[in-house]
Amino acid sequence: MNQEAMQILVVDDEEAILDAVEIYFQRKGYSIHVARNGMQGIDIIEKKSIRCVFTDINMPEMNGLEFAERVREIDNTLPVIIMTGTPSIESMVQTLRNGVVDYLIKPINLEQMELTAQRVMRERKTFIENLILKEELARQKRLEKLNRELVCRAQDLNILNEIMEDFSETDSTDMAYDKVVELGTEKLLADQAFFHLYSHEDGSLIQMACRSKKSLEKDSPGEPWQDIPPQIKGYLLQLIQENNTPCLVCPPDEAFVQNRKVYSCMAAPLKIRNKLFGIVSAFHFTQDRSFSEKDIYYLNFIAQRAATSIENIALYGNMMGNLYSTLLAFVTALEARDRYTSRHSIRVARYAMDMAIHMGCTQEEIEIIDMAGHLHDIGKIGIPDHILLKPGKLTDEEYEIIKAHPIIGADIIGRLGLWDEETDIILYHHERMDGTGYPEGLKGGAIPKLARIIAVADAYDAMASDRSYRRKIAKKEVIRLIHEQSGRSFDPDVVHILLERCHSEEWDAIYVI
Ligand SMILES: [Fe+2]
Repeated sequence: MNQEAMQILVVDDEEAILDAVEIYFQRKGYSIHVARNGMQGIDIIEKKSIRCVFTDINMPEMNGLEFAERVREIDNTLPVIIMTGTPSIESMVQTLRNGVVDYLIKPINLEQMELTAQRVMRERKTFIENLILKEELARQKRLEKLNRELVCRAQDLNILNEIMEDFSETDSTDMAYDKVVELGTEKLLADQAFFHLYSHEDGSLIQMACRSKKSLEKDSPGEPWQDIPPQIKGYLLQLIQENNTPCLVCPPDEAFVQNRKVYSCMAAPLKIRNKLFGIVSAFHFTQDRSFSEKDIYYLNFIAQRAATSIENIALYGNMMGNLYSTLLAFVTALEARDRYTSRHSIRVARYAMDMAIHMGCTQEEIEIIDMAGHLHDIGKIGIPDHILLKPGKLTDEEYEIIKAHPIIGADIIGRLGLWDEETDIILYHHERMDGTGYPEGLKGGAIPKLARIIAVADAYDAMASDRSYRRKIAKKEVIRLIHEQSGRSFDPDVVHILLERCHSEEWDAIYVI
């Protein structure tokens, strides 16, 4: 043991004992401290790294037992050995109660004293090592527990992130409803999951989406529910309305024994602006599975994400609707300046949509052509009135200015960055199949298909209507002129459809708009 580890304190009011002890232990290489009373002893303990304390019992002011008690308060691992001249069972018991580890009988045998010091210091070392080991063990256990919690939390976060990502991809309310039930069966492993809209008018629940786990019939024989049975639906709605929070129904009420027994069920409200919008519900039909508190937490998170997503879709739709209405108002105002072009864009859009439908275009293409048809001439906003409304023939310079309107229109719509396909149609609606059109002189298939449809609809309506510079041309002649330009100005496929459709009731109805 080094000097630091061998510091011993001896407290006694007898000078002779202290002297003898000091000399003996110093000679043996210990760092020995002596105190004449308890107070001095405490003072030394507070300043030095004492490893072992010997104390007399009978001392003035503070006796050995009181001193031992004080030592224990300071450091309960510090061994205290009592030195007494009058040992009795009673005092021995008392010393042990005060945390004294041993006692020596006076007169003191110094060698015995040293052996005792060595033993108690060794015991203390082992005790402290055990204590450290115990603490280390406890620390490790705490760490393991913390690790487990962390892994659990990381898994939670992972699932929450996946749910968030899933909803970020939804761009329609139907997709959001489907996503809710998909997550219910795939992430929460429900046998069946439903999403119902809540009707504030009659308080009913209208099913919008449902999904069953693939193995449902195998695990739990019987048909999956087409919809939640009315009794259970009413029960869940009442529960949600009363609590206004997600509910875990486990074990379920008797009401849950319908055509198949529900063993576990949960439901969460989907609220938009704090108003009940719908209910998400999930069911287990097998006894060995039941939803946990964590499942209800996830279900609630799914409902919240769906609510945000649905609200955003609605806001976006509203914003788009408002923007489109504003652009249409520009076109209407533009056409209102010239009585000859009034409602031209509406008719072009209708003729083009009708042809697109009969050419087998997709729903998305039809929607694009609807918008582009209405906005195709919006660029005329940038053409001065004296040119746009000129009654006579245009000069070459004036015609060049008019020819800029597809570029101006595409610039206006393109800047919004929302409608790329529509922008292209606006830009290319005056291109011709043989490359003699404008603004870029694109040829044939290089012209977007929907722009080729608009071009035919535009030419048809322009010729069939009065213009400031000429009277309208008879329908028969219009058809002949367009037919004549098939493959030159116009796409033959589109002209073919026009020839089929131009005598239909629908076209007659558009003509008088
Ligand atoms: Fe145009």
